[in-house]
Amino acid sequence: MTRTHLLALDQGTSSSRAIVFDREGRLVAMAQREFAQHYPQPGWVEHEAEEIWQTQLATAREALAKAGLQAQDIASIGITNQRETTVLWDRKTGEPLHRAIVWQDRRTEPFCAELRASSEAADIRARTGLVIDPYFSGTKLRWLLEHIPGARARAEGGELAFGTIDSWLLWRLTGGRVHATDVSNASRTMLFNLGAGDWDDALLARLQVPRSLLPAVHPSCHRFGETDPMLLGAALPIDGVAGDQQAALFGQACFEAGLVKNTYGTGCFMLMHTGAQARASSQGLLGTRAAQVGSQAQFALEGAVFIGGAVVQWLRDGLHAVRSSSEVEALAASVPDTGGVMFVPAFTGLGAPYWDADARGAIVGLTRGSTTAHIARAAVEAIAFQSAALLQAMASEGGPVAELRVDGGASVNNTLMQLQADLTGVPVVRPRVTETTALGAAYLAGLGAGVWSGLPELAAHWQVDRRFEPQMPRSQAAERLAAWEHAVRQARAR
Ligand code: G3P
Repeated sequence: MTRTHLLALDQGTSSSRAIVFDREGRLVAMAQREFAQHYPQPGWVEHEAEEIWQTQLATAREALAKAGLQAQDIASIGITNQRETTVLWDRKTGEPLHRAIVWQDRRTEPFCAELRASSEAADIRARTGLVIDPYFSGTKLRWLLEHIPGARARAEGGELAFGTIDSWLLWRLTGGRVHATDVSNASRTMLFNLGAGDWDDALLARLQVPRSLLPAVHPSCHRFGETDPMLLGAALPIDGVAGDQQAALFGQACFEAGLVKNTYGTGCFMLMHTGAQARASSQGLLGTRAAQVGSQAQFALEGAVFIGGAVVQWLRDGLHAVRSSSEVEALAASVPDTGGVMFVPAFTGLGAPYWDADARGAIVGLTRGSTTAHIARAAVEAIAFQSAALLQAMASEGGPVAELRVDGGASVNNTLMQLQADLTGVPVVRPRVTETTALGAAYLAGLGAGVWSGLPELAAHWQVDRRFEPQMPRSQAAERLAAWEHAVRQARAR
Protein backbone atom coordinates (compact mmCIF):
# COMPACT_ATOMS: atom_id res chain seq x y z
CA MET A 1 0.00 0.00 0.00
CA THR A 2 1.44 3.39 -0.94
CA ARG A 3 -1.07 5.44 0.99
CA THR A 4 0.17 4.87 4.51
CA HIS A 5 -0.60 8.04 6.44
CA LEU A 6 -3.77 9.41 7.97
CA LEU A 7 -4.83 13.03 8.21
CA ALA A 8 -6.87 13.96 11.28
CA LEU A 9 -8.75 17.27 11.27
CA ASP A 10 -9.37 18.32 14.87
CA GLN A 11 -11.69 21.29 14.90
CA GLY A 12 -11.80 22.54 18.53
CA THR A 13 -13.46 25.41 20.35
CA SER A 14 -10.47 27.74 20.25
CA SER A 15 -8.39 26.42 17.36
CA SER A 16 -8.41 24.28 14.24
CA ARG A 17 -5.68 21.66 14.08
CA ALA A 18 -4.54 19.08 11.58
CA ILE A 19 -2.34 16.15 12.52
CA VAL A 20 -0.67 13.57 10.28
CA PHE A 21 -0.22 10.09 11.78
CA ASP A 22 1.69 7.14 10.35
CA ARG A 23 0.37 3.60 10.33
CA GLU A 24 1.97 2.88 13.71
CA GLY A 25 -0.21 5.66 15.15
CA ARG A 26 2.79 7.97 15.64
CA LEU A 27 2.39 11.71 15.27
CA VAL A 28 4.32 12.89 12.19
CA ALA A 29 3.34 16.55 11.84
CA MET A 30 0.90 19.05 13.25
CA ALA A 31 -0.44 22.48 12.33
CA GLN A 32 -2.71 24.69 14.40
CA ARG A 33 -4.54 27.99 13.91
CA GLU A 34 -6.62 29.92 16.37
CA PHE A 35 -9.72 31.81 15.33
CA ALA A 36 -11.86 34.58 16.77
CA GLN A 37 -14.36 34.11 19.59
CA HIS A 38 -17.35 36.45 19.47
CA TYR A 39 -19.31 37.42 22.58
CA PRO A 40 -22.15 39.63 21.28
CA GLN A 41 -23.98 39.64 24.64
CA PRO A 42 -23.30 38.21 28.11
CA GLY A 43 -23.73 34.43 27.91
CA TRP A 44 -23.60 34.36 24.11
CA VAL A 45 -20.67 32.76 22.24
CA GLU A 46 -20.36 32.65 18.45
CA HIS A 47 -17.85 31.53 15.80
CA GLU A 48 -17.58 32.59 12.18
CA ALA A 49 -18.25 29.29 10.33
CA GLU A 50 -16.30 30.50 7.30
CA GLU A 51 -13.27 31.20 9.48
CA ILE A 52 -13.53 27.72 10.98
CA TRP A 53 -13.45 26.27 7.48
CA GLN A 54 -10.58 28.47 6.26
CA THR A 55 -8.39 27.79 9.31
CA GLN A 56 -9.12 24.07 9.05
CA LEU A 57 -8.21 23.95 5.37
CA ALA A 58 -5.04 25.96 5.96
CA THR A 59 -3.89 23.62 8.75
CA ALA A 60 -4.55 20.56 6.58
CA ARG A 61 -2.31 21.97 3.86
CA GLU A 62 0.32 23.05 6.37
CA ALA A 63 0.43 19.68 8.15
CA LEU A 64 0.91 17.86 4.85
CA ALA A 65 3.73 20.24 3.91
CA LYS A 66 5.40 19.86 7.31
CA ALA A 67 5.21 16.07 7.01
CA GLY A 68 6.79 16.30 3.56
CA LEU A 69 3.83 14.42 2.10
CA GLN A 70 1.62 14.77 -0.95
CA ALA A 71 -2.12 14.24 -0.86
CA GLN A 72 -1.48 10.90 -2.61
CA ASP A 73 0.32 9.64 0.52
CA ILE A 74 -2.82 10.03 2.62
CA ALA A 75 -4.95 6.90 2.92
CA SER A 76 -7.88 8.71 4.47
CA ILE A 77 -9.12 11.71 6.43
CA GLY A 78 -10.77 11.61 9.85
CA ILE A 79 -12.75 14.54 11.24
CA THR A 80 -13.25 15.27 14.92
CA ASN A 81 -14.85 18.40 16.25
CA GLN A 82 -16.15 20.58 19.05
CA ARG A 83 -19.61 19.16 19.54
CA GLU A 84 -23.07 20.77 19.66
CA THR A 85 -21.95 24.03 17.95
CA THR A 86 -24.67 24.82 15.45
CA VAL A 87 -24.40 26.03 11.85
CA LEU A 88 -27.23 26.85 9.44
CA TRP A 89 -26.37 27.41 5.81
CA ASP A 90 -27.84 27.87 2.34
CA ARG A 91 -27.66 24.65 0.33
CA LYS A 92 -27.24 26.51 -2.97
CA THR A 93 -24.57 29.07 -2.08
CA GLY A 94 -23.00 27.25 0.87
CA GLU A 95 -23.17 30.49 2.85
CA PRO A 96 -23.95 30.42 6.56
CA LEU A 97 -27.04 32.45 7.47
CA HIS A 98 -25.61 33.44 10.84
CA ARG A 99 -22.51 32.95 12.93
CA ALA A 100 -22.29 29.47 14.45
CA ILE A 101 -23.80 29.32 17.94
CA VAL A 102 -21.18 27.70 20.14
CA TRP A 103 -21.89 24.90 22.66
CA GLN A 104 -21.07 27.27 25.55
CA ASP A 105 -23.80 29.73 24.50
CA ARG A 106 -26.65 30.11 27.03
CA ARG A 107 -29.15 32.18 25.01
CA THR A 108 -31.77 29.45 24.86
CA GLU A 109 -32.02 29.02 28.64
CA PRO A 110 -35.54 30.58 28.86
CA PHE A 111 -36.89 28.03 26.37
CA CYS A 112 -35.00 25.21 28.13
CA ALA A 113 -36.48 26.27 31.47
CA GLU A 114 -39.93 26.07 29.88
CA LEU A 115 -39.19 22.57 28.57
CA ARG A 116 -37.81 21.44 31.94
CA ALA A 117 -40.97 22.60 33.68
CA SER A 118 -43.24 20.91 31.12
CA SER A 119 -44.79 17.46 31.32
CA GLU A 120 -42.52 16.36 28.46
CA ALA A 121 -39.26 16.75 30.37
CA ALA A 122 -38.86 13.11 31.43
CA ASP A 123 -39.78 11.93 27.94
CA ILE A 124 -37.17 14.19 26.32
CA ARG A 125 -34.53 12.88 28.70
CA ALA A 126 -35.49 9.27 27.99
CA ARG A 127 -35.42 9.77 24.23
CA THR A 128 -32.13 11.67 24.06
CA GLY A 129 -30.16 10.56 27.14
CA LEU A 130 -29.47 14.28 27.74
CA VAL A 131 -30.48 16.79 30.36
CA ILE A 132 -32.50 19.70 28.97
CA ASP A 133 -29.91 22.43 28.63
CA PRO A 134 -28.89 25.18 26.15
CA TYR A 135 -25.61 23.22 25.72
CA PHE A 136 -27.17 21.00 23.03
CA SER A 137 -27.83 21.98 19.40
CA GLY A 138 -31.60 21.58 19.11
CA THR A 139 -32.67 24.74 20.92
CA LYS A 140 -29.90 26.71 19.21
CA LEU A 141 -31.23 25.66 15.81
CA ARG A 142 -34.75 26.61 16.89
CA TRP A 143 -33.43 30.02 17.93
CA LEU A 144 -31.85 30.54 14.48
CA LEU A 145 -35.08 29.60 12.72
CA GLU A 146 -37.03 32.01 14.91
CA HIS A 147 -34.66 34.96 14.71
CA ILE A 148 -33.35 35.04 11.15
CA PRO A 149 -35.97 36.72 8.95
CA GLY A 150 -37.40 34.25 6.45
CA ALA A 151 -35.32 31.32 7.73
CA ARG A 152 -38.23 29.13 8.81
CA ALA A 153 -40.01 29.41 5.46
CA ARG A 154 -36.78 28.72 3.59
CA ALA A 155 -36.06 25.73 5.86
CA GLU A 156 -39.52 24.34 5.18
CA GLY A 157 -38.90 24.84 1.45
CA GLY A 158 -35.77 22.64 1.67
CA GLU A 159 -33.34 25.46 0.88
CA LEU A 160 -31.29 25.27 4.09
CA ALA A 161 -29.01 22.80 5.84
CA PHE A 162 -28.23 22.40 9.53
CA GLY A 163 -25.08 20.81 10.82
CA THR A 164 -22.72 20.52 13.73
CA ILE A 165 -19.14 21.38 12.84
CA ASP A 166 -18.39 17.91 11.42
CA SER A 167 -21.25 18.29 8.92
CA TRP A 168 -20.14 21.78 8.01
CA LEU A 169 -16.57 20.60 7.31
CA LEU A 170 -17.82 17.57 5.36
CA TRP A 171 -19.97 19.86 3.23
CA ARG A 172 -17.06 22.16 2.45
CA LEU A 173 -14.50 19.39 1.97
CA THR A 174 -16.75 17.62 -0.54
CA GLY A 175 -17.63 20.78 -2.44
CA GLY A 176 -21.23 20.73 -1.15
CA ARG A 177 -21.91 17.16 -2.26
CA VAL A 178 -22.28 15.53 1.17
CA HIS A 179 -24.61 16.49 3.98
CA ALA A 180 -23.98 13.96 6.73
CA THR A 181 -22.94 13.42 10.34
CA ASP A 182 -22.07 10.50 12.58
CA VAL A 183 -24.00 9.00 15.48
CA SER A 184 -21.73 10.49 18.15
CA ASN A 185 -22.34 14.05 16.95
CA ALA A 186 -26.04 13.42 16.28
CA SER A 187 -26.49 12.25 19.87
CA ARG A 188 -25.54 15.75 21.10
CA THR A 189 -28.27 17.62 19.27
CA MET A 190 -31.33 16.79 21.45
CA LEU A 191 -33.03 15.90 18.16
CA PHE A 192 -31.73 12.34 18.00
CA ASN A 193 -33.30 9.25 19.54
CA LEU A 194 -30.40 7.67 21.40
CA GLY A 195 -31.76 4.12 21.38
CA ALA A 196 -33.34 4.08 17.92
CA GLY A 197 -30.36 5.79 16.27
CA ASP A 198 -32.31 8.23 14.12
CA TRP A 199 -33.76 11.73 14.22
CA ASP A 200 -36.83 11.65 16.43
CA ASP A 201 -40.08 13.00 14.96
CA ALA A 202 -41.57 13.89 18.36
CA LEU A 203 -38.48 15.94 19.26
CA LEU A 204 -38.43 17.61 15.84
CA ALA A 205 -42.07 18.60 16.31
CA ARG A 206 -41.48 19.91 19.84
CA LEU A 207 -38.52 22.01 18.74
CA GLN A 208 -40.16 22.96 15.43
CA VAL A 209 -37.29 21.70 13.31
CA PRO A 210 -38.15 20.56 9.74
CA ARG A 211 -36.57 17.19 8.92
CA SER A 212 -35.35 18.48 5.55
CA LEU A 213 -32.69 20.51 7.40
CA LEU A 214 -30.98 17.48 8.87
CA PRO A 215 -27.91 15.58 7.71
CA ALA A 216 -27.89 11.83 7.05
CA VAL A 217 -26.58 9.90 10.07
CA HIS A 218 -23.92 7.22 9.64
CA PRO A 219 -21.65 5.11 11.85
CA SER A 220 -18.44 6.95 12.81
CA CYS A 221 -16.40 4.71 10.52
CA HIS A 222 -18.03 5.06 7.10
CA ARG A 223 -17.11 6.28 3.61
CA PHE A 224 -18.59 9.76 4.09
CA GLY A 225 -17.32 11.05 0.77
CA GLU A 226 -14.24 12.32 -1.05
CA THR A 227 -12.65 15.71 -0.91
CA ASP A 228 -12.90 18.11 -3.83
CA PRO A 229 -9.55 17.46 -5.64
CA MET A 230 -8.91 21.21 -5.89
CA LEU A 231 -8.57 21.56 -2.12
CA LEU A 232 -5.64 19.33 -1.18
CA GLY A 233 -4.28 18.25 -4.55
CA ALA A 234 -6.20 14.97 -4.92
CA ALA A 235 -9.59 13.47 -4.10
CA LEU A 236 -9.11 11.97 -0.64
CA PRO A 237 -11.58 9.68 1.07
CA ILE A 238 -13.13 10.73 4.38
CA ASP A 239 -13.72 7.56 6.40
CA GLY A 240 -13.97 8.76 9.98
CA VAL A 241 -16.13 11.30 11.84
CA ALA A 242 -16.67 11.59 15.60
CA GLY A 243 -17.30 14.29 18.19
CA ASP A 244 -14.09 15.17 19.99
CA GLN A 245 -14.83 13.49 23.33
CA GLN A 246 -15.99 10.29 21.70
CA ALA A 247 -12.95 10.41 19.41
CA ALA A 248 -10.73 10.71 22.49
CA LEU A 249 -12.48 7.69 24.03
CA PHE A 250 -11.73 5.80 20.82
CA GLY A 251 -8.14 7.11 20.66
CA GLN A 252 -7.65 5.81 24.22
CA ALA A 253 -8.64 2.38 22.88
CA CYS A 254 -11.69 2.34 25.18
CA PHE A 255 -13.68 0.02 22.96
CA GLU A 256 -15.45 -2.01 25.64
CA ALA A 257 -17.88 -1.55 28.50
CA GLY A 258 -16.20 -0.33 31.69
CA LEU A 259 -13.27 1.51 30.08
CA VAL A 260 -13.08 5.19 31.07
CA LYS A 261 -11.13 8.22 29.91
CA ASN A 262 -10.84 11.71 31.34
CA THR A 263 -9.58 14.66 29.29
CA TYR A 264 -8.10 17.47 31.38
CA GLY A 265 -8.63 20.67 29.41
CA THR A 266 -10.24 24.03 30.23
CA GLY A 267 -12.98 21.77 31.55
CA CYS A 268 -12.73 18.01 32.00
CA PHE A 269 -14.74 15.50 30.03
CA MET A 270 -15.08 11.99 31.41
CA LEU A 271 -16.62 9.21 29.33
CA MET A 272 -17.27 5.59 30.23
CA HIS A 273 -17.93 3.08 27.48
CA THR A 274 -21.06 1.09 28.33
CA GLY A 275 -21.02 -1.34 25.37
CA ALA A 276 -24.11 -2.00 23.29
CA GLN A 277 -26.47 -0.80 26.04
CA ALA A 278 -27.59 2.74 26.70
CA ARG A 279 -27.67 3.36 30.46
CA ALA A 280 -30.01 5.77 32.11
CA SER A 281 -28.47 7.82 34.90
CA SER A 282 -30.11 9.12 38.03
CA GLN A 283 -27.06 11.22 38.93
CA GLY A 284 -27.21 13.57 35.98
CA LEU A 285 -24.70 11.79 33.78
CA LEU A 286 -25.49 11.99 30.07
CA GLY A 287 -26.23 9.00 27.91
CA THR A 288 -24.48 9.39 24.58
CA ARG A 289 -23.35 7.44 21.54
CA ALA A 290 -19.74 6.26 21.50
CA ALA A 291 -17.94 6.08 18.16
CA GLN A 292 -19.41 3.29 16.06
CA VAL A 293 -17.54 0.92 13.76
CA GLY A 294 -19.85 -1.52 11.95
CA SER A 295 -23.55 -1.92 12.49
CA GLN A 296 -23.60 -2.40 16.27
CA ALA A 297 -24.51 0.76 18.21
CA GLN A 298 -22.10 1.71 21.01
CA PHE A 299 -22.97 3.79 24.05
CA ALA A 300 -21.24 5.80 26.75
CA LEU A 301 -21.97 7.70 29.93
CA GLU A 302 -20.54 11.20 30.06
CA GLY A 303 -19.95 13.80 32.72
CA ALA A 304 -18.19 17.15 32.64
CA VAL A 305 -16.27 19.28 35.10
CA PHE A 306 -17.00 22.84 33.89
CA ILE A 307 -13.95 24.49 35.44
CA GLY A 308 -10.83 22.33 35.14
CA GLY A 309 -7.69 24.00 33.85
CA ALA A 310 -9.71 27.23 33.71
CA VAL A 311 -9.13 27.56 37.44
CA VAL A 312 -5.46 28.21 36.67
CA GLN A 313 -6.45 31.05 34.32
CA TRP A 314 -8.48 32.54 37.16
CA LEU A 315 -5.49 32.36 39.52
CA ARG A 316 -3.58 34.32 36.90
CA ASP A 317 -6.17 36.79 35.59
CA GLY A 318 -8.60 37.08 38.52
CA LEU A 319 -6.51 36.64 41.65
CA HIS A 320 -3.19 37.76 40.09
CA ALA A 321 -1.48 35.06 42.18
CA VAL A 322 0.82 34.17 39.27
CA ARG A 323 1.99 35.93 36.13
CA SER A 324 1.80 32.91 33.84
CA SER A 325 -0.08 29.62 34.05
CA SER A 326 3.17 27.68 34.05
CA GLU A 327 4.07 29.16 37.46
CA VAL A 328 1.10 27.51 39.14
CA GLU A 329 2.57 24.04 39.40
CA ALA A 330 5.69 25.36 41.19
CA LEU A 331 3.64 27.59 43.49
CA ALA A 332 1.34 24.69 44.41
CA ALA A 333 4.36 22.44 45.00
CA SER A 334 6.00 25.02 47.29
CA VAL A 335 3.73 23.88 50.16
CA PRO A 336 3.34 20.25 51.29
CA ASP A 337 -0.47 20.50 51.47
CA THR A 338 -3.26 23.07 51.30
CA GLY A 339 -3.16 23.70 55.06
CA GLY A 340 -6.85 22.84 55.26
CA VAL A 341 -7.88 25.19 52.43
CA MET A 342 -10.50 23.82 50.02
CA PHE A 343 -11.36 25.53 46.75
CA VAL A 344 -14.58 24.75 44.89
CA PRO A 345 -14.32 26.55 41.52
CA ALA A 346 -18.06 26.55 40.83
CA PHE A 347 -17.76 29.79 38.83
CA THR A 348 -20.47 28.75 36.39
CA GLY A 349 -22.35 26.34 38.66
CA LEU A 350 -21.62 22.65 39.07
CA GLY A 351 -22.18 19.81 36.58
CA ALA A 352 -22.66 16.10 37.31
CA PRO A 353 -23.11 14.67 39.86
CA TYR A 354 -24.33 17.91 41.51
CA TRP A 355 -26.08 19.77 38.64
CA ASP A 356 -26.47 23.04 40.44
CA ALA A 357 -26.49 26.04 38.10
CA ASP A 358 -26.72 28.41 41.08
CA ALA A 359 -23.65 27.18 42.99
CA ARG A 360 -20.77 29.65 43.00
CA GLY A 361 -17.06 29.42 43.74
CA ALA A 362 -15.94 29.08 47.35
CA ILE A 363 -12.59 29.03 49.13
CA VAL A 364 -13.04 27.64 52.63
CA GLY A 365 -10.81 26.71 55.56
CA LEU A 366 -8.71 29.90 55.45
CA THR A 367 -6.54 30.73 58.48
CA ARG A 368 -4.04 33.49 59.25
CA GLY A 369 -1.37 31.12 57.94
CA SER A 370 -3.01 30.61 54.53
CA THR A 371 -1.04 31.89 51.55
CA THR A 372 -1.55 32.11 47.79
CA ALA A 373 0.49 28.89 47.60
CA HIS A 374 -2.16 27.06 49.66
CA ILE A 375 -4.91 28.53 47.47
CA ALA A 376 -3.04 27.57 44.28
CA ARG A 377 -2.57 24.04 45.57
CA ALA A 378 -6.25 23.80 46.54
CA ALA A 379 -7.20 25.07 43.05
CA VAL A 380 -5.15 22.38 41.32
CA GLU A 381 -6.45 19.73 43.71
CA ALA A 382 -10.03 20.79 42.90
CA ILE A 383 -9.52 19.39 39.39
CA ALA A 384 -8.85 15.97 40.92
CA PHE A 385 -11.67 16.25 43.48
CA GLN A 386 -14.28 17.15 40.87
CA SER A 387 -13.12 14.33 38.59
CA ALA A 388 -13.15 11.90 41.52
CA ALA A 389 -16.78 12.78 42.30
CA LEU A 390 -17.62 12.19 38.64
CA LEU A 391 -15.83 8.84 38.57
CA GLN A 392 -17.65 7.75 41.71
CA ALA A 393 -20.99 8.52 40.05
CA MET A 394 -19.95 6.65 36.92
CA ALA A 395 -18.79 3.59 38.80
CA SER A 396 -22.04 3.47 40.76
CA GLU A 397 -24.07 3.51 37.54
CA GLY A 398 -21.85 1.91 34.93
CA GLY A 399 -20.06 -0.71 37.03
CA PRO A 400 -16.55 -1.08 38.44
CA VAL A 401 -13.67 0.85 36.86
CA ALA A 402 -10.35 -0.96 36.45
CA GLU A 403 -8.32 2.07 35.41
CA LEU A 404 -8.74 5.69 34.37
CA ARG A 405 -7.08 6.64 31.09
CA VAL A 406 -6.07 10.30 30.97
CA ASP A 407 -5.15 12.88 28.36
CA GLY A 408 -5.26 16.65 27.80
CA GLY A 409 -2.99 19.44 29.00
CA ALA A 410 -3.03 18.86 32.76
CA SER A 411 -2.45 15.11 32.41
CA VAL A 412 1.28 15.88 32.22
CA ASN A 413 1.14 17.09 35.86
CA ASN A 414 2.42 14.04 37.78
CA THR A 415 1.39 15.35 41.21
CA LEU A 416 -2.15 15.90 40.00
CA MET A 417 -2.34 12.45 38.39
CA GLN A 418 -1.05 10.80 41.59
CA LEU A 419 -3.69 12.64 43.62
CA GLN A 420 -6.31 11.51 41.10
CA ALA A 421 -5.30 7.88 41.65
CA ASP A 422 -5.19 8.37 45.43
CA LEU A 423 -8.63 9.93 45.66
CA THR A 424 -10.37 7.48 43.34
CA GLY A 425 -8.51 4.35 44.43
CA VAL A 426 -8.26 3.55 40.72
CA PRO A 427 -4.96 3.37 38.79
CA VAL A 428 -4.52 6.36 36.48
CA VAL A 429 -2.90 5.56 33.14
CA ARG A 430 -1.34 8.11 30.82
CA PRO A 431 -0.65 6.92 27.27
CA ARG A 432 2.40 7.81 25.20
CA VAL A 433 0.37 9.66 22.61
CA THR A 434 -1.78 12.17 24.50
CA GLU A 435 -3.21 13.64 21.27
CA THR A 436 -5.94 11.07 21.69
CA THR A 437 -8.73 13.11 20.09
CA ALA A 438 -6.95 13.41 16.75
CA LEU A 439 -5.64 9.86 17.09
CA GLY A 440 -9.20 8.59 17.53
CA ALA A 441 -10.24 10.31 14.30
CA ALA A 442 -7.20 8.86 12.53
CA TYR A 443 -8.05 5.38 13.86
CA LEU A 444 -11.60 5.63 12.52
CA ALA A 445 -10.36 6.81 9.12
CA GLY A 446 -7.64 4.18 8.97
CA LEU A 447 -10.04 1.37 9.85
CA GLY A 448 -12.34 2.52 7.07
CA ALA A 449 -9.52 2.70 4.54
CA GLY A 450 -8.15 -0.72 5.49
CA VAL A 451 -4.88 0.62 6.96
CA TRP A 452 -5.69 -1.29 10.14
CA SER A 453 -7.43 -4.64 10.38
CA GLY A 454 -9.67 -3.99 13.35
CA LEU A 455 -9.98 -2.96 16.99
CA PRO A 456 -7.53 -5.57 18.36
CA GLU A 457 -4.77 -4.13 16.19
CA LEU A 458 -5.54 -0.62 17.44
CA ALA A 459 -5.67 -1.76 21.07
CA ALA A 460 -2.16 -3.18 20.57
CA HIS A 461 -0.93 0.24 19.36
CA TRP A 462 -2.04 1.99 22.49
CA GLN A 463 0.99 2.29 24.76
CA VAL A 464 1.39 3.37 28.34
CA ASP A 465 3.66 6.25 29.24
CA ARG A 466 3.09 6.07 32.99
CA ARG A 467 0.78 4.35 35.43
CA PHE A 468 -0.07 5.98 38.77
CA GLU A 469 -1.09 3.42 41.40
CA PRO A 470 -3.24 4.57 44.33
CA GLN A 471 -0.96 4.95 47.37
CA MET A 472 -3.09 6.81 49.91
CA PRO A 473 -4.85 4.62 52.49
CA ARG A 474 -8.56 4.43 51.61
CA SER A 475 -9.56 5.79 55.00
CA GLN A 476 -7.51 8.94 54.35
CA ALA A 477 -8.97 9.28 50.84
CA ALA A 478 -12.47 8.96 52.30
CA GLU A 479 -11.69 11.73 54.79
CA ARG A 480 -10.43 14.01 52.04
CA LEU A 481 -13.45 13.31 49.84
CA ALA A 482 -15.75 14.04 52.78
CA ALA A 483 -13.96 17.37 53.28
CA TRP A 484 -14.49 18.11 49.59
CA GLU A 485 -18.21 17.34 49.82
CA HIS A 486 -18.42 19.59 52.86
CA ALA A 487 -16.84 22.43 50.87
CA VAL A 488 -19.22 21.75 47.94
CA ARG A 489 -22.19 22.10 50.30
CA GLN A 490 -20.91 25.55 51.26
CA ALA A 491 -20.55 26.53 47.60
CA ARG A 492 -24.19 25.53 47.10
CA ALA A 493 -25.60 27.22 50.20
CA ARG A 494 -26.58 30.54 48.67
O1 G3P B 1 -19.01 19.36 24.13
C1 G3P B 1 -18.06 20.34 23.87
C2 G3P B 1 -16.74 19.74 23.51
O2 G3P B 1 -16.88 18.89 22.42
C3 G3P B 1 -15.74 20.85 23.26
O3 G3P B 1 -14.47 20.37 23.28
O4 G3P B 1 -12.06 20.43 23.32
O5 G3P B 1 -13.25 21.90 21.71
O6 G3P B 1 -13.33 22.41 24.13
P1 G3P B 1 -13.19 21.35 23.09
